[in-house]
Amino acid sequence: MKKSETGDISIIGKITEQSGMFYPDMVKDRRHLHSNPELSFAEYETTRFIKEKLTRMGYEIHSPTPTGCIALMKGGIVSPKVTALRADIDALPILEDGEAKNEFISSKPGISHCCGHDLHTANLLGTAAILSRNKERIPGTVVLIFQPGEEKLPGGARLICESGILEDLGVQEIFGLHTDPNLEPGKIGIRHGRLMAKPDEFAVKIRGKGGHAASPQNCIDPVVILSQVVLQLQTIVSRNINPADAAVVTVGKIEAGTAHNIIPAEGSLYGTVRTFRDEIAGEIRSRIETIATHTALSYGAVAEFVYESGYPAVINYTDQTDKVIGVAASLFGPDAVRHMPEPYMAGEDFSYYLQKFKGAFFFLGSGSTRADSHHAWHHPRYNVDETCLLTGSALLASLVMLEGKNGKNQ
Ligand code: NI
Repeated sequence: MKKSETGDISIIGKITEQSGMFYPDMVKDRRHLHSNPELSFAEYETTRFIKEKLTRMGYEIHSPTPTGCIALMKGGIVSPKVTALRADIDALPILEDGEAKNEFISSKPGISHCCGHDLHTANLLGTAAILSRNKERIPGTVVLIFQPGEEKLPGGARLICESGILEDLGVQEIFGLHTDPNLEPGKIGIRHGRLMAKPDEFAVKIRGKGGHAASPQNCIDPVVILSQVVLQLQTIVSRNINPADAAVVTVGKIEAGTAHNIIPAEGSLYGTVRTFRDEIAGEIRSRIETIATHTALSYGAVAEFVYESGYPAVINYTDQTDKVIGVAASLFGPDAVRHMPEPYMAGEDFSYYLQKFKGAFFFLGSGSTRADSHHAWHHPRYNVDETCLLTGSALLASLVMLEGKNGKNQ
């Protein structure tokens, strides 16, 4: 399809105008979802809410997983193109706090949308509305993925990928976003290649011998052994990993003992490993196991080691990253795009889609003082500046409607 420059400008103008038109609905949806959060893989009411809206807009609905759904719409312009857009819909087990959200604070104590997935869902519903308005101008087919369980292993993305539905629907490229409290609304953050790390978890339990704190000679003290293990783990990144490869080993929790005058019989530590390559993760895993078991052995204790592999790293494709940058610059001006100098070490199950399809993931600026939304992801006061819905929905809709990698129809 050939379109003139003027044609593009008119499409872009229409999309931004319509994202403004649907903005009040998106805000309403986001607040409804925010006050009714549901945990990973239990998003039943959320799914009902989403399906009802999509059905009214004329989408064909598929349900490859018990919660979440996939919506399909064929555009009016004949093209083999099949573009997928993804939003995650689950909430977290966090007791919410924050006056900025008083009107729509979580109605379920201990469960809250403190990672912005309420906004992702409302944003994709807004995008769905824009696309359904412009059905005749959509090249090929659009596939909208409302994904359950991003926050919990094995990850909803993995289940959807394993179901094979995306291949059946002919998906060719995929885009997704996450709110970012470090960026202002109106801006997006993206980078080529490595965007987010592979987050693995590990635990080490040391079985020693308990007794009276005043008679250490009769005990095997797991507190001392755990302390040795924590310090030795620090040498993995500094001594075993190529400095050119980014990696993190953090022990976030230690558990041992009940009182100041008792040597406990056992103790545990829990940590996370962040890497960008499976080989590096494998090397770190084996080093942790060796350090834990041999340190325990040298004290006459026994170590139990558990390692759980998390999502793969999110690695953006070049062409799709260029497309996001080009389309965002056409919509909002080149200053709206922040080229991230380095990746985030947090994880995302969007990586499963990128193992099967070309695509790109990016960050949607959502942090402002006005909305008290600079708090980190998973913070009890986490909030989003809702004006980012204008940026997010216009950008996602444009990624479907504009074909070229520089954001222009070709
Ligand atoms: Ni999240």
